[in-house]
This record gives sequence, C-alpha cells and structure tokens, in this order.
Amino acid sequence: MNSMGNAKEQVIAAAEQFARSELEQDSTGHDWWHVYRVVKMAERLAEEEGADIALCKIAALLHDVADEKLNPSKEAGLQKVSDWLHGKPLIEEEQDHIMEIIATMSYSAGKNPPMRTLEGQVVQDADRLDAIGAIAIARVFLYAGWKGDPIHDPMLQPRESMTMEEYRHGKSTAINHFYEKLLKLKDKLNTNAAKRMGGERHRYMEDYLEQFKHEWEGEL
Ligand code: ADP
Ligand code: NI
Repeated sequence: MNSMGNAKEQVIAAAEQFARSELEQDSTGHDWWHVYRVVKMAERLAEEEGADIALCKIAALLHDVADEKLNPSKEAGLQKVSDWLHGKPLIEEEQDHIMEIIATMSYSAGKNPPMRTLEGQVVQDADRLDAIGAIAIARVFLYAGWKGDPIHDPMLQPRESMTMEEYRHGKSTAINHFYEKLLKLKDKLNTNAAKRMGGERHRYMEDYLEQFKHEWEGEL
C-alpha cells in the first residue's frame, strides 16, 4: 500500500471512470483529455506547493462534470457530482471541500474572491494553465470552429468586457479570444509554481501572435 492509502486510490480510480464516461462525448474543449492534463498538472503543483495530492486529483477529475454546458443548469451539474461523492470513502469535510472547489473555480476572478484553500488554488491554476500555451492555442481554434467564428478579422476589435452570454455566443474571432481572455490568465494564477510555468506559456502565445500577424500581412 502506498502512502496515499487504498481508499483514496479507489476514489481516484472511480472518479476517473465517472469523468471519462461523462466527458467522452464532448467536443467543446472540455473533453476527457483536458481533464487528464488538468489532473497531471494539479498533481505536480500539489507536490510543489505542499497541497493534499489526493484531494487535488479528485477535484481535478470532477471539475468539469458539473459544467453548465454539459448540464441543464450549474446547480443540476453540482448536484450530480455531490450525489456521486456521497457514499464514497471520504469524510464529510473532504466531500465538502471537493464540492467547494468545483463550485467556485470556474468563476471569473473579478467577480469572486480568490480560492479559499491551497487545494482550490492548485486545481484552479491547473485548469487555467490548460488555457495558456501550445495546447491552449489548439483549443482556441477548435472552440472557434465549433462556434462558427473565423480565425481572424482585423476589422473586429477584441471586446473589452463581456457578459457571460456575449462571451459564449457573441461574435468574435479566435485571435480576439487571446486578447479577451487568454493573455489575461497569467496574472490570475494563484501559486508560484503555476506562475512560473504560466509565464513561459504566456510568452509562447505572444510569440505565436506576433508570427501570426507578420504572416497575415505577408511579411514573413
Ligand atoms: P473553462 O475550462 O475555464 O470553463 P471555457 O469553457 O470558457 O473555459 O473554455 C474552454 C476552452 O475553450 C478554453 O481553452 C478556452 O480558451 C476556449 N474558448 C472559450 N471560449 C472561447 C471563444 N469564444 N473563442 C475561442 N475559444 C474559446
Ligand atoms: Ni476545465
């Protein structure tokens, strides 16, 4: 038996099954492999920051199951996760902690207080890091294509502040999404470990955008 204990290992394995079956069909960037990456990153950040690794992994595995895009409502999604957690070999405090993380992590930083616990900060950072960098670039174009947005339109300025409705459905472009959201994410990271990696990934996106603009004008 390893140091994490068998019961926790079993919850992690069951959460993986649950998340896989819930997210396998999704094509909006919330697919299983997004969750896989968030779990890996959460584990790494948890080690570096001294957070509870098992708790971070379980919350990371479940974090998108409650997403409102995949459920009738945010509440219905959270209820589904809470029902699933009930009866698992976790103490009530741990269940509550996991639910708190999932319920609060997707909110934008401007409107909400920072994540209360180190584990919450770690899982939120891991999710945000998947929206910064090389994979994030791929996700933007996948999402824009799914939404029907063009790659780029120099006549269409990035929108400064948006309602959730505009953000999800309003007219924009893949390139504008970098300015509307992705380039702002590095300053919203919580932990030092994530800030370090986020900084590198951020520069990678800036380089990409620079190259993109040169190519657009036939300069490179
Ligand atoms: P989260 O995982 O925080 O819930 P979203 O659901 O907003 O994030 O986005 C999932 C992925 O799709 C992210 O990588 C994000 O950058 C990308 N994305 C979200 N909205 C848009 C958009 N309007 N245009 C292009 N990409 C988007
Ligand atoms: Ni996510």
